[in-house]
Amino acid sequence: MGFWNNLFKFGVQNMAIDLGTANTLVYVQDQGIVLNEPSVVALETINGMKRVKAVGDDAKMMMGKTPDSIEAIRPLRDGVIADLDVAEEMIKHFIRKVNGRKSLMRYPEITICVPSGSTSVERRAIRDAASNAGASQVYLILEPMAAAIGADMPVTEPVGSMVVDIGGGTTEVAVLSLRGLAYTTSVRTGGDKMDEAIVSYVRRHHNLLIGESTAERIKKDFGVARPPEDGVGESITIKGRDLVNGVPKEITINQGHIAEALSEPIGAIVEGVRIALENTAPELAADIVDQGIVLTGGGALIGGLDEYLREETGLPVTIAEDPLSCVALGTGRAMEDPIYRGVLMTA
Ligand SMILES: Nc1ncnc2c1ncn2[C@@H]1O[C@H](COP(=O)(O)OP(=O)(O)O)[C@@H](O)[C@H]1O
Ligand SMILES: [Mg+2]
Repeated sequence: MGFWNNLFKFGVQNMAIDLGTANTLVYVQDQGIVLNEPSVVALETINGMKRVKAVGDDAKMMMGKTPDSIEAIRPLRDGVIADLDVAEEMIKHFIRKVNGRKSLMRYPEITICVPSGSTSVERRAIRDAASNAGASQVYLILEPMAAAIGADMPVTEPVGSMVVDIGGGTTEVAVLSLRGLAYTTSVRTGGDKMDEAIVSYVRRHHNLLIGESTAERIKKDFGVARPPEDGVGESITIKGRDLVNGVPKEITINQGHIAEALSEPIGAIVEGVRIALENTAPELAADIVDQGIVLTGGGALIGGLDEYLREETGLPVTIAEDPLSCVALGTGRAMEDPIYRGVLMTA
């Protein structure tokens, strides 16, 4: 009796998943976000056979530090599924982790957000992965829509608004109105390109080789969209390997240099916004003048990017309250609140 009561009480809890190129977040109905880990899988090759060694936080710690037999990969790196099998393993791993040992008894409905530019083959692959992991029903939601709902934008009203979601691999720019995407474009530039730009700047100017994790840390702590007012800002000490004589070495650069390094990826994002504005119908464009642009995704946190976009577009630009969680929160709300039912898709 107790068993059935418990089963009833802890009945199926539906899940919403933000399958990001950099981070995966899982939202459980009535609980909120319960998991937030890097979208990374470490594979180990033993006797020519590949096996999952670690997923998420554990796998990210191995990035750039793995022996030859282990490789850490990001299956969604550029916004498309680079490796389907690995992506599926990752999704299953996270669902199982959230579900715990009860997984065999429960068949939740799972809502997953997908990039607006994903192909039908990719969408089917994501859906199948969730089904294989035990979902009784899978719904999909487009990423910019989820981001906008999570950022409390008026997506159900007949009012145009613009969301710019700057993730690891891609930046999605979209104009939304009445539960639909009136315009959307995906730029293959995001946080990863910024990290790469810092790596190559330091190599070109200082003959110093640094890893992407180091570059990401520098970007998060000191990254700026434009040079500081005095052109210099704060100084940063960076350790890496000297390209000339191969030994570890330390150099110092400043935020002016970082802004220079980031100018190309930042420029690509600004250009994406400009193109979206040019392609927006006049009535909606008029709304955006009032509503402004909302920035979501981790890249929204680059210092001064909002100010830069404000000057470039002449529009109000705000950063969502918790940019790294917007998509997961929005996917969760779309799953829970009937007002958003129209934005969920089954394929
Ligand atoms: N404070 C910060 N400043 C600049 N970039 C950041 C900051 N925090 C996170 N990021 C970057 O945001 C990206 C991840 O954002 P996220 O929205 O989770 O991406 P995705 O949805 O593609 O998984 C990474 O490139 C990360 O380095
Ligand atoms: Mg995202």
